[in-house]
Amino acid sequence: MNKVLVTGGAGYIGSHACKVLRDAGYIPVTFDNLSTGWEDAVKFGPFHRGDLLNRADIDAAFLEHTPTAVMHFAAFSQVGEAMSNPGKYWRNNFGGGLNLIEATIAHECRNFVFSSTCATYGDQDGVELDEHCPQQPQNAYGASKRAIEDMLADFSASDDLNYVIFRYFNVAGADPDGEIGEFHQPETHLVPIILDAVADKRDGITVFGGDYDTPDGTCIRDYVHVMDLVDAHVSGLKWLEERKGNRVFNLGTGSGFSVREVIDHARVVTNRDVPWKIGPRRSGDCTKLVSGSRRATEELGWEPRLSTLEEMIRDAWRWHQTGHYEK
Ligand code: UFG
Repeated sequence: MNKVLVTGGAGYIGSHACKVLRDAGYIPVTFDNLSTGWEDAVKFGPFHRGDLLNRADIDAAFLEHTPTAVMHFAAFSQVGEAMSNPGKYWRNNFGGGLNLIEATIAHECRNFVFSSTCATYGDQDGVELDEHCPQQPQNAYGASKRAIEDMLADFSASDDLNYVIFRYFNVAGADPDGEIGEFHQPETHLVPIILDAVADKRDGITVFGGDYDTPDGTCIRDYVHVMDLVDAHVSGLKWLEERKGNRVFNLGTGSGFSVREVIDHARVVTNRDVPWKIGPRRSGDCTKLVSGSRRATEELGWEPRLSTLEEMIRDAWRWHQTGHYEK
């Protein structure tokens, strides 16, 4: 069975990717420094603890496991933190990405799947974002991801690296089997924060800004179920194995929901009150990020199956009530 080196495999999206890779007949090798991930989430293949900023750690993982492909999830990913501490994002995301790409080539592995983001587009007057839209990131998180996209193009030209880039919209939900889920400490993402409020683990939720140019004044995002998202990664890997080449795909549903609408859906799904109040805007937030692309469907055959807000919140809520990780 082919091995796939999954950086960030102990994190939220990476752990779900490991599960679908295992189910698709691969051996997912998690490479993670556990700075934000959880060893408890590594359930579907071997664990190699290491840091992308230490090239020797990456070399050791390649030598031990000889993976035939890399899926690169490991990154810091909080927009607010990226605004206040850009150096952390450039050092880790950019520096770690460069080390990983160079190591991948040095170990003669040529298939690379990269976890990028719609944050590379930035605000574009509310237009639906397809892969042709110019990339104008508004924060160091989006900028560091875009830089790795550029890096991949350069290394592809010089060293025949084949890559698929996925630009995610907002990922939510959890494994419907309840084996793994979303668990950050501290938590900053909308859906788990709402569920913390529902479960009385926090007083309520502060909505970051009520004066955006949207129908209810709150930011609009395109939410995609984590299982649908990682399914696309397996399709992307197969595309690389069969075709060789490079391609960028957005992963979103094309439907946007405001923060207020997500709160309203959570109230219905959990049948509990969600205390909320409007607070100041969060620096770096875009008004509206909604995917306008069908490319992943047309070229990879990807169809989101679970990406309704109800389904995402229901799966997240099930995990929230039963699952968590311990350091
Ligand atoms: N929000 C609140 N209150 C909170 C938390 C979030 O109002 O307590 C709002 C945000 O302002 C935003 C929306 O909920 O409008 C979603 O915020 P998240 O922090 O959940 O997600 P982001 O949109 O900031 O970022 C996420 C991922 C990024 C990814 C991006 C793409 O963290 O990795 O989606 O939009 F790039």
